[in-house]
Amino acid sequence: VIPYGRHYIDEDDIEAGGRLLRTGLLTQGPAVEAFEQAVADYVGARYAVAVSSGTAALHIAGLAAGVEPGRDVVTSPITFVASANTAYYAGARAHFADIDESTVNMSPCTLEQVLHERRDIAAVIPVHFAGLVCDMPAIRQAADRADAVVIEDAAHALGSRNADGSPVGSCAHSLMTVFSFHPVKAIAAGEGGMVTTNDETVYRRLLRLRSHGINKLDDPLLLPTQASTGGLTNPWYYEMQELGFNYRITDIQCALALSQLRKLERFIRRRRELVDTYDAAFEAEPHISPAQVHGRDTSGHHLYVARIDFDAVGVSRAEVMLRLRERGIVTQVHYIPVPMHPFHRTQGAELAACPAAGAYYAQALSLPLYYGLTDEEQSFVVAALRESLDA
Ligand SMILES: Cc1ncc(COP(=O)(O)O)c(C=O)c1O
Repeated sequence: VIPYGRHYIDEDDIEAGGRLLRTGLLTQGPAVEAFEQAVADYVGARYAVAVSSGTAALHIAGLAAGVEPGRDVVTSPITFVASANTAYYAGARAHFADIDESTVNMSPCTLEQVLHERRDIAAVIPVHFAGLVCDMPAIRQAADRADAVVIEDAAHALGSRNADGSPVGSCAHSLMTVFSFHPVKAIAAGEGGMVTTNDETVYRRLLRLRSHGINKLDDPLLLPTQASTGGLTNPWYYEMQELGFNYRITDIQCALALSQLRKLERFIRRRRELVDTYDAAFEAEPHISPAQVHGRDTSGHHLYVARIDFDAVGVSRAEVMLRLRERGIVTQVHYIPVPMHPFHRTQGAELAACPAAGAYYAQALSLPLYYGLTDEEQSFVVAALRESLDA
């Protein structure tokens, strides 16, 4: 079976896992900090906090950004539901700024409109869809004018760069950036996520929220008299200073992720080759084109989404996907627009407010794209797609 995405594990990764197990420190050991430091160095951020998933990273980033009841979030309609759910975890609501169809990213113009209509936005969460980086300077400017914080959802974009060359995660245009290390992402930890930031106050808050809201580093104690006995510090003392979570990641996951990180540039180079091959193959096809038509030169190429005019072809997307599945090729749709989900509809979201997202959704199909995909497999996918579009 050829899936749409797949992680790549080699002997180095397996050895790294084995070595970690022999250390006996399965969680809260040194591998977590080593991974955090490695990602911080790679992206050029001062601080990094690794957590149990990208969703957990979004949750605590939202809280650190001041999302709370009455202080809402704006995000893209074309993303995984977790980006928008960040709002609801904190008792706030999500609003959607429609995409620019040429990039499938949140459009700064529609963001301006949403921010103009609302006075209650605490955070803007642009999503670097498929690794293609959003127009961050324009988004930052709009958010600044509305006094909102920017959190980049870079679950797809480890290894991508901004138009100015700064790495995604350096937070050159945001307060925080969030990553995911789910197996279909750029590097795999099994499950895992991270928040990067250059702000020390935010960093300290993220550390507390990751672990039950308990004081970390040299956080000032709120009840210092409880911390000592007759002038001696109580060695056991700690304080839960706010409501936090157990969002810790394990050392086992971080050992794997560290080993994977060493291969990231190689992974991205191969993805880029595969993307170029798909583009060239579809050039002569009247009804197939890449969904993202500019800005891909600095993308990490997390997904290859083809835009197919199924109406013009005369075969439905469901039929095409089934035909491909019969030949062992698994395709996917990224994504069902978030406002279409029943939960978000009950919260008042409407797809009609995001017509570009609706038009994109009608034609999107993600084709297999991953480091281990061979040239032969890719040729087979292209040929099978052509045949399955035959009415
Ligand atoms: C855009 C986006 N944001 C957030 C997430 C959540 O990450 P995780 O699966 O690690 O919780 C995902 C992952 O699927 C994603 O694609």
